[in-house]
Amino acid sequence: MRSLFVMDDLDTLDLPGDSTVALMAASTGRGWEAWWCHPSAMWGQGGRAFARAQRVDTRATAFDRQQWAEVQLADFDVVWMRKDPPFDMTYIFSTYLLDMVGTRTLVLNAPAGLRARNEKLFAAAYDDLTPPTLISNNIARIMAFAAAQPAKVVLKPWDGNGGRGVLVTQTGDPNLRSMIEVLSDEGRRFILAQRHLPEIADGDKRILLVDGEPVGAVLRVPGKADHRGNLHVGATAHATTLTPRELEICARIGPTLQAEALVFVGIDVIGGWLTEINVTSPTGIRQVNRFDGTLVEERILDAALRRHGALA
Ligand SMILES: Nc1ncnc2c1ncn2[C@@H]1O[C@H](COP(=O)(O)OP(=O)(O)O)[C@@H](O)[C@H]1O
Ligand SMILES: [Mg+2]
Repeated sequence: MRSLFVMDDLDTLDLPGDSTVALMAASTGRGWEAWWCHPSAMWGQGGRAFARAQRVDTRATAFDRQQWAEVQLADFDVVWMRKDPPFDMTYIFSTYLLDMVGTRTLVLNAPAGLRARNEKLFAAAYDDLTPPTLISNNIARIMAFAAAQPAKVVLKPWDGNGGRGVLVTQTGDPNLRSMIEVLSDEGRRFILAQRHLPEIADGDKRILLVDGEPVGAVLRVPGKADHRGNLHVGATAHATTLTPRELEICARIGPTLQAEALVFVGIDVIGGWLTEINVTSPTGIRQVNRFDGTLVEERILDAALRRHGALA
């Protein structure tokens, strides 16, 4: 198997913690040839996609960088789209280039699914699985939604990640309207308003799914100084298991993930409520492995191998 990882620059990665590095190291471990490129190093010509890429053997703590070459994406068995957000027009455009790989190359996660599925709205579509949520750019409507909540409300940008811009507030907060104005750029941008779940005190659970099946989870408990359950703002990671409700959530969304070739996905669940279905470049492989004693990256490569076999 030959793999190409479309990703951020190798020099910017946190080697021991990074999920893409785990996938690359597992590929090297299996004797698979692996290359990497930045999305901006791709181009299309004659109906086909190319990239300036570098072959790299990856171990847990180091890259063995080899030759650079101009490669055709169709010459790879698997192309992994692992660029981190922002999810902007440059990102979306790169998925159109990934559509030009041809039918013998597997692209994961599927470019069409990456374009179709917004991470927060994908979750919000499962009304009975998610906390009450409003998606709007209308300041009065968002104020009214906040007033209708039993206690606090959470405001978040539709395209955030890593907790960026996620605010906890409530009706009666003299900053409420101002916060909505700032986050929505005076009503020019859509935002999400969501019922605050007090169960966040017990943690935000990241569940990893491979081809629609849950393979492990990690509980992220917010620190004292910040309300958010994102590890890079001080949340701590803890071992956990899946409740019947969480298994139900996975069973409900799993078939759609599988049908849309969203092969490696991370969902966020607070108090049994689904808040996010991360499809663009989910993380958490290393944390889940640490607590569950599993090797999630091997399950992902197995799924890729299975799907690649079905292409031929
Ligand atoms: N409905 C909610 N109730 C309580 N806390 C929330 C809620 N939604 C988000 N949060 C807090 O904000 C953090 C980040 O929210 P999330 O929706 O996962 O956005 P991001 O994509 O930025 O991670 C969560 O870990 C949690 O601490
Ligand atoms: Mg999150």
